Amino acid sequence: MATQTDIDRTLARASEIAKTETARLLERTTASEKLYQRAVASLPDGVASNFQAGDPYPIYLERGEGAHVWDVDGNEYVDCHGGFGVNVVGHAHPKIVEAIEKAIRGGTHFAVTTEMTVKLAEQVCSRFGLEQVRFVNSGTEATMDAIRVARAATGRDRIVKMEGSYHGHHDSVLFSVVPESAVLGLRNNVSGESADDEGTAYTTQPTSKGVPRSTWHDTIIAPFNDAQAVEDLCREHGDEIAALILEPVMMNVGIIVPEEGYLQSLRDICDRYGVVLIFDEVKCGATIAYGGAIERYGVQPHLAAFAKAIGGGTTVGAFGGEAAVMQYVTKGAAQQGTFNGNPLSAAAGYTALTEVLTRDAYDHLGKLGTLLAEGCRAVIDEHGIPAHAVDLGAKGCVSYRPEPMKNYRDFLEAHDELFYASYPWMVNRGIFMTPGDEEQWTISVQHEEEDVRRYIDAFAEFCAELAK
Ligand SMILES: Cc1ncc(COP(=O)(O)O)c(C=O)c1O
Repeated sequence: MATQTDIDRTLARASEIAKTETARLLERTTASEKLYQRAVASLPDGVASNFQAGDPYPIYLERGEGAHVWDVDGNEYVDCHGGFGVNVVGHAHPKIVEAIEKAIRGGTHFAVTTEMTVKLAEQVCSRFGLEQVRFVNSGTEATMDAIRVARAATGRDRIVKMEGSYHGHHDSVLFSVVPESAVLGLRNNVSGESADDEGTAYTTQPTSKGVPRSTWHDTIIAPFNDAQAVEDLCREHGDEIAALILEPVMMNVGIIVPEEGYLQSLRDICDRYGVVLIFDEVKCGATIAYGGAIERYGVQPHLAAFAKAIGGGTTVGAFGGEAAVMQYVTKGAAQQGTFNGNPLSAAAGYTALTEVLTRDAYDHLGKLGTLLAEGCRAVIDEHGIPAHAVDLGAKGCVSYRPEPMKNYRDFLEAHDELFYASYPWMVNRGIFMTPGDEEQWTISVQHEEEDVRRYIDAFAEFCAELAK
C-alpha cells in the first residue's frame, strides 16, 4: 500500500508532467488557438456550450469517421470522448448516414408526428420497459418535463436529487451538482435552504448564478447509495415531495455504481410515500447495457429520462414510463416543442436502436470495455498509482483514488492533479478525451481492439512516467 510520502511524490511528479505535456499540447494545436481567437468574438469563450470551453482554449474538431476524430490542426485521435456519451454508434456509421439521407429527401421538418416517430416511440418503450414515451431534444428537456409531469401527477412541488448529480441546466436541478467541500453541509439539514437549518438533508447549493432564490426550497439534496437517508426525508416531508430523481449510475463524477439492492429500496420507498421515482438514464440508457440501467440492475422506475446515445448522434431526448403518470401530459402538464419527434432525428434514432445498437453490439462493447479497464487496472497495480478503473459496457473510467467511490464526497477525495496530468498526456498520444475528471470514456461499436490497445499503451507509459 502506498504511503503518504509515495503519494506526495506521485502528485509532485504529476504537476511536472502536467506542465510539460500542456506546453506540448499547445504547440500541437496552433490552428485551434487561431480558431479560438476568431470564435471568441462571436461566441462567449469561443464555444457553443460552457461544457465545450477549454483552458486556455478548446481543441476544435474538424471531422470524425468510425472510432477516430481529427482536429483542425490535422491531428488524428482515437475518440474516447464520444461527444459526452452520444457516439456509441461511432462517427458517420453507414447505416445512420443512409437513414438520415433517406429521411432528408422526404422533408426535414413538419412539426407533425410521422410514422417514423411512432416507430421510435415503440422501440424506446419496448427496449426500456416503458408504457408510454414523449420526445424532446435534449437531456435537459427530458428531465425538466419528467419532473413537471411528476409534479402534475402528485400535486406536490418539492423534489429530491443526489449530491453530485447533473441532470441538465434547468432551474430545478441546478443545485449541488459540484458543491465545494466547504458548502456540503451537515447530514442533518432538511429544510433545504442553508447549512444552518436543522433537518436531515445536505445543503441545497445553487450551481449557477441566475437560479431564483425562490426555487431553492423545492430541491432537497440527498447522498447517493444511502436509501435510509431517502426514507428519512420521505418520513419527514413525503407529502411535499413530487419526485426523487437520480442517475441510477452516477456518471458526472467519474462512475459510481449503485450498491446491491439500493435502486430497489428507492423504488419501494417511493411507492410507499407516493413519490415518483425518475431514473435519469441520459448517460446510462443504451450505453451500459442494451436496456440501460433499468435492464442492468433490474429495477423499473415510474419515469425515466433519455437522450444522448438513443439518437444515434442526433438531437433526440425522451422521457416516459407508467401510463398512469404519463397521462398528465394530456391533463394540463405542458409538454411540447416544435422540434419534438423531428423526422431526421427520429430516423437516426430508430436506425441506431434497431440496426446498430443490437444485443450483439453490446457483446462487442462489453468485451472491449473490459479489455480497456483491465488493461488500465494492470498498469495501475504495476506502478502503485492511487487509482481504480471502472468497467461498464460502453462506459468506463480511471478515477484517481484507490478505492471505488460510494458517493459524491468520495469523489472530492480523488487526486485531480493526476487527472490534469493524464489529460494532456493522453491527448498528445492520440487519445481524445473529455477535459474533466467528472467524465468517462465512451467506446463505440466502431472501436476495435487496436484502438483500445492504443489507449492502454498510452496510459501505461503515463503510469510509468508518474512512478519514475
Ligand atoms: C445524467 C445527465 N442528465 C442530463 C443531462 C443533460 O443533457 P443535455 O446536455 O442533452 O441537455 C446530462 C448531460 O450531460 C447528463 O449527464
